[in-house]
Amino acid sequence: MLKNKDLLGIKELSSEEITEILDHAVIMKEIIQKNNKKAPHLQGKTVITLFYENSTRTRLSFELASKYLGANAANVAVGTSSVAKGESLIDTARTIDVMGTDILCIRHSSAGAPHLVARNVEASVINAGDGMNEHPTQALLDAFTMREKKGELGNLKVAIVGDILHSRVVRSNAYLLNKMGAEVTVAGPSTLMPPEIEKLGVKAYTDVEKAIKGADVVMGLRIQLERQKKGLFPSIDEYSDIFGVNEERLKLAKEDAILMHPGPVNRGVEISSSLYHPDKSVIDEQVTNGVAVRMAILYLLSKHHGERSL
Ligand code: CP
Repeated sequence: MLKNKDLLGIKELSSEEITEILDHAVIMKEIIQKNNKKAPHLQGKTVITLFYENSTRTRLSFELASKYLGANAANVAVGTSSVAKGESLIDTARTIDVMGTDILCIRHSSAGAPHLVARNVEASVINAGDGMNEHPTQALLDAFTMREKKGELGNLKVAIVGDILHSRVVRSNAYLLNKMGAEVTVAGPSTLMPPEIEKLGVKAYTDVEKAIKGADVVMGLRIQLERQKKGLFPSIDEYSDIFGVNEERLKLAKEDAILMHPGPVNRGVEISSSLYHPDKSVIDEQVTNGVAVRMAILYLLSKHHGERSL
């Protein structure tokens, strides 16, 4: 069982809790691989997704994870909900809470929004990405994939390449990999590198090749093309030439290194298009593992919820 009723960030998890989630996800993955994807772990529980930002992988995997474990699952379509009439975040969350919700998965553009909601509802809140702060379930599915492919996390050197400045994925991965004893390097343009990044326990480079050299895991991060208007790098082509992960650069990593990306991928920008293929990267497996890891998290948090007086 996880100590807190909510999963708001990797920062708040212990290494033992991270291991507990990853171990449970192994069993959950077996359920996904079955012909009949139906288990009773969340029978009678209600899981709601409330996403103020776009998503394909995270939202759908929470919904499928809930259904595979027998929960009642529903999504609030924010754009057509009473949010569009001006209802506040807290009032929206409280309204969902008193409908018998046990677990509320929330994505929001503001850092700290899930933490605010968690203080105002009885349901367990899962942070599905908050602004530039954290994306804890992404880091957990990344860790699951690394452990599955490469073994103990503490023995690994992980290189993360791309838009470090705006990435909540890199923050959650840095917290998690540090807690588990891995070595982390990050690389990207200096304009996309937060000045205090090394306080996260990572080594920062503007030379991608130095960061990738000898790595067990190379992770590309999405270049957030919407930021390009701010002129943070000269052009997409230049970015790809200087910072993109391609076949040549990947050869600098260990021979058996794996290539990861949280998705969605800008093909030919942060990684070359030929590498976005099941023979060359584990991106599809990350997506499958995302369902298993979210099943494990939902199950472990559901233990906080017995009878409720509404
Ligand atoms: N990796 C990730 O969070 O993807 P989505 O935005 O599609 O959920």
